[in-house]
This record gives sequence, structure tokens and C-alpha cells, in this order.
Amino acid sequence: MPLNHSEIRAQFPSLSVVDNKQPRIYLDNPGGTQVSQRVIERMTQYLINCNANDGGKFRTSLDSDALLAEAHQAMAALLNAPSPSEIVFGNNMTSLTFSFSRSLAHLFKPGDEILLTRMDHEANISPWLQIACECDLNVKWLDFSIETYRYEMETLSQLLSNRTKLVAVNYASNALGTINDVKTISAKAHSVGALVYVDAVHYLPHGCTDVQDIGCDFLACSPYKFCGPHQGVLWGKAELLEQIQGYNVRPAMNYLPTKFETGTQNHEGQAGSLAAVEHLVWIGKTMAQEYHEQFAGYSESTKYIYSAMTAIKDYEEKLSYRLINGLQAI
Ligand SMILES: Cc1ncc(COP(=O)(O)O)c(C=O)c1O
Repeated sequence: MPLNHSEIRAQFPSLSVVDNKQPRIYLDNPGGTQVSQRVIERMTQYLINCNANDGGKFRTSLDSDALLAEAHQAMAALLNAPSPSEIVFGNNMTSLTFSFSRSLAHLFKPGDEILLTRMDHEANISPWLQIACECDLNVKWLDFSIETYRYEMETLSQLLSNRTKLVAVNYASNALGTINDVKTISAKAHSVGALVYVDAVHYLPHGCTDVQDIGCDFLACSPYKFCGPHQGVLWGKAELLEQIQGYNVRPAMNYLPTKFETGTQNHEGQAGSLAAVEHLVWIGKTMAQEYHEQFAGYSESTKYIYSAMTAIKDYEEKLSYRLINGLQAI
């Protein structure tokens, strides 16, 4: 069955809101998306049925822990991460990147280089500039061509050296729409021993994000950009997350992902993020069967998520062409 737009739209209560008898039209998708009833219900049910802190041996805490584990599992399926313990939830991508930059700073010494880009969102620039300043690191900049709006791989190769310790790069640009070849960028960075931190906030709502295929070390995204609540998610390779220092308080456990999930988390937000992934699973399972074979090598959940993402992408592409052609004709 192809995408059933009216059935999907019916899942979003905010699409029925009317102002002065006019249906509301939402045009600020880059700033954040609307949420489905499923997200609202998961968040409400969390607050009604299992509102508790973690680690308690009583009903609500046990239920809460189970749900948070499910949320980590769902996010791992979304990113095709090998393990849910590699998923770190936080307030938003910016805060996660700031605290994570402090954790990574311990690996660097004065004179080391970090490579940032001229196409990235500030959230993947300022945190790194700050540690560069604090740790006396040299910053190099990867610019993009103003003809193609792409990075040139030759320029990247010239900038990388065995002093480069980190490459922070965007998967897609929220300003230009460019989708970057983060797989090649990761391979090039690794060839000189640098770590790779990918900002996937803008890409993830529009395509399949597979951290194992990209081969990066860390990747961050924001559920509120893909029909979830205001949350941030960071994925990192387990062996690296285990090595580096977590910024947390003393009684916090030193195992993953708790080590990086500072303080009491936004549990209802995680419940909502889980539902945002469930929404994709529902679309993939019931409306995107034609794509299942393409993703047969993945886990059941990832197969449905990627099928949904691909069906949505195909539809969005048609809409985008229509928009671009229409605008050009005016
Ligand atoms: C490409 C990109 N990266 C990072 C961010 C920051 O994300 P957050 O709002 O989760 O901190 C944004 C927000 O708009 C973005 O568009």
C-alpha cells in the first residue's frame, strides 16, 4: 500500500487546529515538527502510569526503567546502532555537543588540530571553538565551493594531517540543503587518525541514517525535528564512549549510557521520542511494503523505519520538484 496521506495527517491533532475558521498551516519545519497522537499519548501515559526516577525497586520505577530502555532501543534501530547502550539522550543537540566536547577535550593536547566547516550549524562549531580556546588547539576550516555548494574532497585531504584529532561535520546543511558525503569524509579523517563527529539534525528527518555504514565515531540528532518532542540524541561508538570521561556527578554510574546522561533525564521526552520512532515503524510496516526487500538485511524495526523514510523521501522529492518548478515559473 502506498503512503496514505489522509491517514497519516489524521494522526496529527495540531493539523486540525483552526484559527478564525482557517486551518493552521505550519511552515517552520526546519525549526521543529508537529507531533502525532502517539507521541502525545506516550508522554501522557508516562506521566500518569510510570512517573518515577530510575533504579527503584518499586512498580513505577521499574516500569519507567523498562520504557527508557525501549526508547534507547528504538533510537538505536533508527540509527542502525549496534547497541542501545550507545544512545545518549539529552536536552537537545547543542547541549549534548557542548558537554560532549568537554569529554573529548581530555583526549587532545596543545597544538593538536581540529577541523570545522563553513557549512555547519553553530551547534557543531561553537562547542569545538570553545574547547580549542581552552585547550590551545589549532582550528582549521573546510570551506565549500560557491559553485556546487559542496565540500571538495581534495581540499579536505589538504587540510587533514596527522595533527588532526577531530573532524566535526554536518550530514546535511540546514541553510543550503546540501547532503554531504559523510562516509567519505569519515574514511579520510580516520586515515589520519582523527575522530569524526557528525551533526545529523537536518539530514535525519529526510533519509535513512546508518551510523555503521557512515563509519563515523559520533552522531547527533534532535527528535523534535522528526515529529518527536524537544529532545537531543547522541550516538557514539561503545569503545570510545567507554574510554572517554563522562560529565556527571559522583554517585552517577560509570556504565553506558548513564555515564553521559547527566542528572535526572526528561523521561516523558524519551517516551515521546520512542513514539516518534514507532510512528515511522507504523508507516514502514503498513504503507511502505514495496521497500521492505531493499532493507531486508536490517533488523525488523530498522527495516520498517528505513522503508518509511524512503517512501517519505520519494514523496517529498516529488513535492519539492513541483515547488521548485512552480517558483521558477513565477
Ligand atoms: C543542522 C542543525 N544542527 C544543529 C541544530 C541544533 O539542534 P538543537 O536545537 O537540538 O540544539 C539545528 C537546529 O536547528 C540544526 O538545524
